Amino acid sequence: MAIGILLVGGMGTRLKPLTNQTPKPMLPVAGMPVTERQLLAAKKAGINTVILATSYLSEVFTPYFGDGSKWGMKLLYAVEEQPLGTGGAIRNAAALVDFADSAEEFVILNGDILSGHNISAQLDFHRRNQADATLHLIEVADARAFGCVPTDSNGRVLDFLEKMERPVTNAINAGCYIFNSSVISQIPENTVVSIERETFPQLVKSGRSVFGYSEQSYWLDIGTPFALFQGSRDIVGEGFLVGQGSQIGEGSVITGGTSIGQSSTIGANCRITNSIIGDGVQIGNSCTISDSFIHHHSQIADNSKTLGKYISPTENLPISAQ
Ligand code: GTP
Repeated sequence: MAIGILLVGGMGTRLKPLTNQTPKPMLPVAGMPVTERQLLAAKKAGINTVILATSYLSEVFTPYFGDGSKWGMKLLYAVEEQPLGTGGAIRNAAALVDFADSAEEFVILNGDILSGHNISAQLDFHRRNQADATLHLIEVADARAFGCVPTDSNGRVLDFLEKMERPVTNAINAGCYIFNSSVISQIPENTVVSIERETFPQLVKSGRSVFGYSEQSYWLDIGTPFALFQGSRDIVGEGFLVGQGSQIGEGSVITGGTSIGQSSTIGANCRITNSIIGDGVQIGNSCTISDSFIHHHSQIADNSKTLGKYISPTENLPISAQ
């Protein structure tokens, strides 16, 4: 059965300050880190062994996920002292499992994507085509902000094109790749490599069989604060979500797809909208909170107004509009 690799070692610069203390894939989205959502998706596709390719704030992952047994999975951790880029990270992670002789495919997920696509169907497509590599493609309304990936009528990838004013297709790389071990062997060891800018274009140029699996499903890159809030709202839906053991005081009104983590306390007569509130947070009475990210274990005093802010136990910073 295929082995999973989650790319979770990036700096998450565009999400600062939310990523000051938490790696982007560990930020709660509707009460659960993206990484946990991806583990569940991998498990659904029958993948039971997953390697977390970590670097920035790598120490945050292990206490949360441990050996994976809580999810009925086997989790391994690859830590890059210096970030090796998306390609270098894959090579470094695969080295944990004797990949060179492996007949199993590797299913690699960018750690900052919420995707409802069918990983099993992508694997079937990969095997049917006897491909060396297969990436999920998604069509976006405006592809100008992305590199685009033209394919022929069978789905074979013709090229990897950088961002351009007039994209030749609206199909973009959706951040889920299936690689045979021979593709991973081709990535140089201990070297910074970008999978998008180096590995994929080289594979296509050298005539390897690279396929695009097209599936239009829910898809969101949570790389900016605006997108992170949107992702959380999309999962919460109308109203709001409250985790186990949290309490909400009398007269408080919570709206706009807000999510509240576990064991948090909201005082009386608060107004909270479009916000993400972590675990173990204490919010006083008569507080107004909107468009804000309240990190785990933060405290907010009575009568506070928190608008467009990132609050952690040690920080209180504006979130820039993006
Ligand atoms: P920005 O700094 O805001 O661009 O974000 P990022 O670099 O964290 O993420 P980006 O969208 O560029 O990368 C896609 C995925 O790959 C994210 O889940 C990152 O965590 C991960 N990633 C990026 N660079 C590395 C790296 O050098 N090592 C590892 N292990 N993962 C990486």
